[in-house]
Amino acid sequence: MSKIILTGDRPTGRLHIGHYVGSLRRRVELQESGEFDKIFVMIADAQALTDNADNPEKVRQNIVEVALDYLSCGLDPEKTTLFIQSQISELTELTFFYMNLVTVQRLQRNPTVKQEIVLRGFSENEGDENANKRGIPTGFFTYPISQAADITAFRATTVPVGEDQEPMIEQTREIVRKFNSTYGETLVEPEIMLPDNAACLRLPGTDGKAKMSKSLGNCIYLSDPSEVVRKKVMGMYTDPTHLRVEDPGHVEGNTVFTYLDAFCKPEHFAMFWPEYNSLDEVKAHYQRGGLGDVKIKKFLFNVLDSTLEPIRQRRAELEKNISYVFDVLKKGSDEAREVAAQTLIDVKKAMRINYFDADVLADLIQQFNNKAE
Ligand code: TRP
Repeated sequence: MSKIILTGDRPTGRLHIGHYVGSLRRRVELQESGEFDKIFVMIADAQALTDNADNPEKVRQNIVEVALDYLSCGLDPEKTTLFIQSQISELTELTFFYMNLVTVQRLQRNPTVKQEIVLRGFSENEGDENANKRGIPTGFFTYPISQAADITAFRATTVPVGEDQEPMIEQTREIVRKFNSTYGETLVEPEIMLPDNAACLRLPGTDGKAKMSKSLGNCIYLSDPSEVVRKKVMGMYTDPTHLRVEDPGHVEGNTVFTYLDAFCKPEHFAMFWPEYNSLDEVKAHYQRGGLGDVKIKKFLFNVLDSTLEPIRQRRAELEKNISYVFDVLKKGSDEAREVAAQTLIDVKKAMRINYFDADVLADLIQQFNNKAE
């Protein structure tokens, strides 16, 4: 069986270094590994609209920003199909059929949906005077089903995503099993692929909060200029008990060290901090006491900036030729549509709703005539 990847992001803002270590870097590695027969990376604008109905223009404007982030990180349109979700109308058709295989109660139990209802400020009560978003949009509530359509349309075997997406993949697997047991073996059951390094699983914000997110204002963006990155790093949350340089410091829960775990490579020491040979040595010194935060932050800045600089440069080049970026998305969307259309044909055939295929039609007519006799 072919090995196929499908993954994607909602275009609600530029991508940040949490996206980079959690998914982008991995996608580029997977692309270069040659292990997969096909890789699809989708800009999920339709899904983004499910919780941004009050700001559709934001979603629209961010499509190209996300595409720029993808290309500048090294996704190569010769090897990876980049496309826009809303351009593949087959996905909505699949969603509509899958909706019959999922109960309202099952959707209500989806932990990510539950969390997002609170996070997005959707009030469960339509009459809630205080809520600014009264009631839960139906499209939002059912987006796990639409995500199952995204995944199955491309016969994805592997879905590299963050751990918050685990419930979506589980629901997809349930839908696949239900469809196949009802209509016969048609859809492929996907596997999740989680980031392999704990620091990358969920990179905290610069303020030490559990998640880097635009609404918390604690992000370092891939497109941030060097000076902005420096300021953000120098202002980062470290160990609140490490007051004087001599004090022993804590490494766990110290955001600066979490970032180093995610970004630092052995060669960075020779380049930027030859007094040390490894991150373990730095950590040991910090824990003993006598190593100040400023020195570590300067090192972290150098590590981050040297990682981001080539990405920034590629972005600047691409920004000069934005019609090329749209061209990539159009070609990718055309290619993706062909694949999804074939899956939809197979699905309709399995469901026996392909009434006008010549053999089926002949059969239907014959059945009717036999009954009439
Ligand atoms: N839900 C994903 C996110 O918020 C985006 C997404 C939409 C996706 N469809 C997908 C991811 C299909 C993987 C597969 O990041």
